[in-house]
This record gives sequence, C-alpha cells and structure tokens, in this order.
Amino acid sequence: MSNAARLDNSPLPYLGFGLGLRTRHYQEILEHHPAVDWFEALTENYLVPGGKPLYYLDQVRAHYPVVLHGVSLSIGSTDALDQQYLAQLKTLATRIEPAWISDHLCWTGLNGRNLHDLLPLPYTEEAVHHVSERIMQVQEFLGRRLLIENVSSYVTYTDSQMSEWEFLNAVVERADCLMLLDVNNIYVSAFNHDFDARDYLQGIPAGRVQQIHLAGHRNHGEYIVDTHDEPIIDPVWDLYAEACRLFGPVSTMIERDDNIPPLVDLLAELDQARRIAADVDRTRLAEGDAA
Ligand SMILES: [Fe+2]
Repeated sequence: MSNAARLDNSPLPYLGFGLGLRTRHYQEILEHHPAVDWFEALTENYLVPGGKPLYYLDQVRAHYPVVLHGVSLSIGSTDALDQQYLAQLKTLATRIEPAWISDHLCWTGLNGRNLHDLLPLPYTEEAVHHVSERIMQVQEFLGRRLLIENVSSYVTYTDSQMSEWEFLNAVVERADCLMLLDVNNIYVSAFNHDFDARDYLQGIPAGRVQQIHLAGHRNHGEYIVDTHDEPIIDPVWDLYAEACRLFGPVSTMIERDDNIPPLVDLLAELDQARRIAADVDRTRLAEGDAA
C-alpha cells in the first residue's frame, strides 16, 4: 500500500465516559457543552469535505476529544481494501486528530457489493491470518494502531475451529492492534449462540482493551437483535461491571443509533456507567488495602 506512514505504537489515552455524536444533539452540545468526556463520531458521516456535518464535527472537536468509528472497512472481506475510503479516512484523521480510529471485525460485502450488515467471520486460522494481514496494512497506511470491535451475530459457521474470543485474541495479537469491546454485543451473541458471556470476558487480555461500547437491544424471545434503539438493560450493566473488574478503567461510551432520546437521557445512562465503574474501582481499592 502506498503512502505508508511510520506506525505510532505509543499507548493511547484513557478518555473517561463518552457518547456517540448524533445530529439531533449537535446544537445542544455546542451551546451547553454537556459533561461528556469525549465523543465518538461515525466516520462515514464526515468523509465528504465541506458541508454541515464536518462543520459541526470541527466545532465539537474544538471542545472535546473525538474518536472515529467506522463501519465500511470490511476488514474481513476477500475484496481488496478500499483505497479511496482509506485515503478519505486518513484525510479526516489529519483534520480531526482523533484519539483513535476503530472499525469492526467483520465483512460487509463481496465482489464490490455492499450488504449493509456487519457479518461475522468463520473462526479459523486462515481467517486469523487473512484479517490480521489486512489490519496491519491499514495500520501502516494510517500510521496508527486500529481498534477492532467484536460484532453481534446471528449465524455461526460449521468451519469454525475456535471460540469467538479466541479468534478475536488471535487476530489482535497477530496484528498488534487494540480492541473495542462491545459488552452489549457479547451479551447478544452469548444469548443467540448459547455461550456464557462471562467466559468471553475472562478470555480477553486486559492490556488490549482500549474502549468499551454499551448499548440497548431488542429481545424477541428466541433471539436478540442488536438494535441500539433502547436503554441498556440490567444484565448488560452487570456484564459491564464484570468488564471493569477484569480490565480496570477503560474509556467507555454509549452507542445509541435509533430512537435517539434527548441528550439528558443519555447523560443519565452515562452517569450510571460512571457509578458502576467507580464502585468497582472503590471495591478494588478496598480489597487492595485489606490485602
Ligand atoms: Fe458497538
């Protein structure tokens, strides 16, 4: 890949508690500067130079740290990496100076056709090799480490040779990238595929987890759909507490993509995340003192 930059491997900062940047909240954020530590912007909304979205992102960036979260990398596909998309992403990153850039451990299309879904990969050695090579190419091109997010899924492959978390670990180790761990996605996939979400968390190396996503979903009884249009449910909060116990303080963010409520509602959910993380921290300190 051309235009390779020197890969910056230095540790990324802890940002605290953030929200997804959504159009509905632009004005309120700029007028009132709410107590959000950082915002996650959806890369694809800001790739076109000029126009309102980029204007607002620049304004938000002037007051807050921002990270970029993409859905189009299709890192697992066998199609060639989209050079135009990568060039646009690099230009945006130069402009916004995000604390980091993330995308998903998935494929979204084949033969140039976009399926508009984040599809899981078979958990095989061949896929580990394929995906990690591509992550390394992207990292080299961007000159920075990527965060790769676990997706929620509704199908599995008979070819899979390992668990999802073993696959994620293998990819991340081989590519030397970082993880964006979506706790809700783990809950959804655990329900859909009947594994224990706590086994997943316990199988993840703490040093690789740079960011956590929290979100709501729809439970249809036999299966769960990862809709991001509801408040976070208690079992997902419990799983978040477990993640805090296992991984220590991790930059945490609430992902709401549909049925977007007033900002004040999301700030209340974010406070709940803060309280849970603080409680875990206090317990850990007390246990440390007692030891
Ligand atoms: Fe997510």
